[in-house]
Amino acid sequence: MLLPVIMAGGSGSRLWPLSRELMPKQFLKLCGDATMLQATLARLSGMAAELPLVICNEEHRFIAAEQLRQLSQLNHNIILEPAGRNTAPAIALAAFWARRNGDDPLLLVLAADHVIQDAQAFQTAVQRATKLAEADQLVTFGIVATAPEIGYGYIRRGAVSAVSDAAYSVAEFVEKPNRAVAEQYLASGEYYWNSGMFLFKASVFLAELAKFRPDIMAACEQAMTQTEPDLDFIRVNKQAFAACPSESIDYAVMEKTDRAVVVPMDAGWSDVGSWSSLWEISHKDQAGNVQLGDVLQHGSSDNYIFAETGVVATVGLHNTVVIQTKDAVLVAAKDQVQDVKHIVQQLKQAG
Ligand code: GDD
Ligand code: MG
Repeated sequence: MLLPVIMAGGSGSRLWPLSRELMPKQFLKLCGDATMLQATLARLSGMAAELPLVICNEEHRFIAAEQLRQLSQLNHNIILEPAGRNTAPAIALAAFWARRNGDDPLLLVLAADHVIQDAQAFQTAVQRATKLAEADQLVTFGIVATAPEIGYGYIRRGAVSAVSDAAYSVAEFVEKPNRAVAEQYLASGEYYWNSGMFLFKASVFLAELAKFRPDIMAACEQAMTQTEPDLDFIRVNKQAFAACPSESIDYAVMEKTDRAVVVPMDAGWSDVGSWSSLWEISHKDQAGNVQLGDVLQHGSSDNYIFAETGVVATVGLHNTVVIQTKDAVLVAAKDQVQDVKHIVQQLKQAG
């Protein structure tokens, strides 16, 4: 039994001003006609899997439900978090829910905000991973590292797994190293990026969580056993979940467990975490410009320009991101767009 678990509770702050608190990036149509959440679900088409379980913030319940409805997934399962506690608690809630009748499905944990160009290659990697997850391994999907990115987890490949030659043991898992370390890892050629997608038995994940973070385990168990009645959504207990520490699966479990294996995946994966990563995967004209909306450029190159209302024009502008929406304009150097999150912090502080 394979249960897709879609994590859709992030804030996507580096894609401001398009991504907002009320409409974070997983619910936006950033690449093509479908939203990121819808594309994530569509990628599962044809797989033998149960109805996916979506986990998001309760603020976004109607957006999530409507986007599932548009895919004709009328009877969907959505767990609502009263507040974000990062991915370890989110996955723990999913695992407890999956185990509620004593079942023990394989959880295919996916982020709702990734681009994967080759859905077939993605499905093949999941198939390869199944045997390993059934043998009580925690599978992560590894992407060949091509740049010293500091926003990713890094996995050093160990020996070929004894269970399947499609996977390697994880010799080391380092979540978000600093730039100097990331450069060493890249030069060594032994590292994959952690794609942030996982496959494991619900019971095995919970056993590992209990070993390393019994506090998260206990809070989530309580939050899930005392769910609040709701016909349309799965609502967890507010107080119990509020008491849960915030931590990512990477720090809570993947860095520590000795059950981790990595299945390499070459599927045109991208995290699209920032405007520059969107520029990289988008179709560019001969001057290297990406233009969306009413955009005019002269003597300009390698820009990402988005115009929501009216015309945006540039002259002699290079390597720049301009995002114009109804109530905010961002102008940023393309190699510094990771820092857009600081603007979002300033806005939050200003109230
Ligand atoms: N339900 C829920 N609740 N979902 C969440 C929460 C939460 O509190 N926090 C984050 N998510 C969702 C996000 O929407 C996203 O789909 C996914 O979980 C991953 O969270 P991010 O916040 O985007 O993580 P990251 O990008 O910094 O790092 C992770 O992904 C990288 C690859 O994109 C890590 O797993 C890294 O190791 C990995 O390289
Ligand atoms: Mg991310």
